[in-house]
Amino acid sequence: MTAVDVGPVGTPEFEPVAVRADYAPPTVGIDPDQTKGWMKRLLPLVRAHRRTLVIGVITGVFALATQVAVPAAGRSAVDAAITGDRRALWIVAVLIAVFGVGRLIFGGVYRFYLFKLGWNVETDLRAIMYEHLTRLSFSYYDRTQSGQVISRANSDIRSVQLLLAFGPLISMNLLMFVMALGFMVYIHPWLALVALAPLPGVYWFGLKFRNQVFPLSWVTQARMADLATIVDENVNGTRVVKSFAAEKRQIALLGRSAQRIQWTNVEIANSRSRWNPIIESLPRLGTAMVVLYGGWLAIEGVVSIGTLLAFSAYVIMLQVPFRMAGFVLMQGQRAGAAAQRIYEILDEVPEIIDSPTAVDIVEPRGQVDFEDVRFGYNPETPVLDGFSLHIEPGERVAIVGSTGSGKSTVARLLDRFYDVDGGSVSIDGTDVRDVTLRSLRHTVGLVLDEPFLFSASVHDNIAYARPTASRADVVAAATAAQAHGFICELADGYDSVVGERGYTLSGGQRQRIAIARTLLANPKVLVLDDATSAIDVTVEEAIHQALQGLMDNRTTIIIAHRLSTISLAERVVVLDQGRVANVGTHADLLATDPHYVEILARHSDDDSVDGSGGASGNGDGKVGQGLDSNLPGFPKSGDAPWTFGGGG
Ligand SMILES: Nc1ncnc2c1ncn2[C@@H]1O[C@H](COP(=O)(O)OP(=O)(O)OP(=O)(O)O)[C@@H](O)[C@H]1O
Ligand SMILES: [Mg+2]
Repeated sequence: MTAVDVGPVGTPEFEPVAVRADYAPPTVGIDPDQTKGWMKRLLPLVRAHRRTLVIGVITGVFALATQVAVPAAGRSAVDAAITGDRRALWIVAVLIAVFGVGRLIFGGVYRFYLFKLGWNVETDLRAIMYEHLTRLSFSYYDRTQSGQVISRANSDIRSVQLLLAFGPLISMNLLMFVMALGFMVYIHPWLALVALAPLPGVYWFGLKFRNQVFPLSWVTQARMADLATIVDENVNGTRVVKSFAAEKRQIALLGRSAQRIQWTNVEIANSRSRWNPIIESLPRLGTAMVVLYGGWLAIEGVVSIGTLLAFSAYVIMLQVPFRMAGFVLMQGQRAGAAAQRIYEILDEVPEIIDSPTAVDIVEPRGQVDFEDVRFGYNPETPVLDGFSLHIEPGERVAIVGSTGSGKSTVARLLDRFYDVDGGSVSIDGTDVRDVTLRSLRHTVGLVLDEPFLFSASVHDNIAYARPTASRADVVAAATAAQAHGFICELADGYDSVVGERGYTLSGGQRQRIAIARTLLANPKVLVLDDATSAIDVTVEEAIHQALQGLMDNRTTIIIAHRLSTISLAERVVVLDQGRVANVGTHADLLATDPHYVEILARHSDDDSVDGSGGASGNGDGKVGQGLDSNLPGFPKSGDAPWTFGGGG
């Protein structure tokens, strides 16, 4: 897939900057072995870019070598000047110029490749993480805050990237250290030893610094995620915040969270300011001792002036890795913490996955069976227990029950959002755990009670179910869902962008677009979970008329509180205490089941139904008596107004 192919979101637009679309998705993931350290677990990803890494490191080594060679050449130059050897002076000068050019070229190449490595791995990590997030089950999202996920996908990945870009650079500085040291030992071993004397101190202070910063950087990353959650909720919940005039409280909440981040960051700055100067200045002690001991050796005539100069240059060169050590230690800690948080997500095992022997549902008939189903979001408190229900292909069944009785749960189990704890759910006699999720979710279409829309055009929202759908198909689906009328009145019709989550539309309009979206997918089993609750009764009637035409060859499960909706079903199932309490036609149940009457009565407010006596003579009663399918503008039973692509 190329980056330009963005699916339903539409045509590639003009990009002000040339966009490279040829970046291949990662072929490997992180090492799944959780006992390994975070760097080791990242290795497979880095290894996938070994060409970039190898070019970067080799040119880097050359760049450093040319840098390290300069003081050695300088030593010869000074000594040549002192002895008056003009020819040697020329040679050395040319040599230093060559080193300079080498440094220029290699320096450019290694920087480019190492930074590219960092960005590549970042892109891979992001792709892997997103791919994994899409595979994670609903149970994961039930217990996870979106801010946590967002922050891990952004700032944590960035931390790892920073280290990857600078890590090799800095390890090469260690190489510079080794090279410089080699020269020093070669020139004068004892002098080299004196220069290195402060090294154990640097190591020890570095360790102290690390021990302080590591827990702090972990806390910082966690607090950033908390902040992201608060911001996320503030933005998404802005209507609630404002309607309760709770802005001040939210600002205070955000302020506190920001302060908590400020505190940890200042703490880190504090320990950095305490330990880093020590780590940096200890090598100066080395310089002082070199000047003293080396100067004395020069006076004695044991070493030349050139040697002494070169030596001091190396001691200064030794300090660069030391100075960088502070940054690496800190960035390393931070990246380590960030990587662990990323791995926490990647190590999360998706519970709902295709079994190895899963098959596609081919030409579904639409028979649905729940057999002795036991399920609870928390297994100790089952929501469904002993739930059994057989639905014939093409049947229309309403599920009725008091709020919280588990109606939506039934729908979620059918689409395998969760797996049952006991019993089985099957389609056409095949357990949903034995079919591919892809084909299952194409077969079972859910219209959820909370219609989520994307901030895209109305067309794209409806065509989300089938991105290749033509405008005519989209219009037909919208017409069936009674959405065509209001869509045409929008400023740009089907091309109107509905704003984040569709908030520029009314609740009922959103629900109708959600219904159109599912209708376009043409599922064999259609589940309407409170899908018309925000739509007024007359429009709902029209939808049901259109649906009835479409329902003939499809199994439909209607979850509703309204009598008008329920009466559309051939059979009504009363859900109580996690099991089927009663089954029958609406009329039978009204006449014989007081519990059913009671449930309906509880919702009589929004339905103006006299719960104790059956349907009264208003709009609902009329629907109960059968739908008039000859209204103009609505498709007749049986002839679907558009053609669908093949099913399974
Ligand atoms: N994601 C979830 N995690 C934990 N518990 C949940 C979750 N979803 C629902 N529940 C609980 O499971 C029970 C059944 O919920 P469900 O949504 O199926 O009820 P419902 O019959 O659809 O209610 P309503 O008519 O209000 O939509 C409720 O007690 C609810 O608190
Ligand atoms: Mg529900």
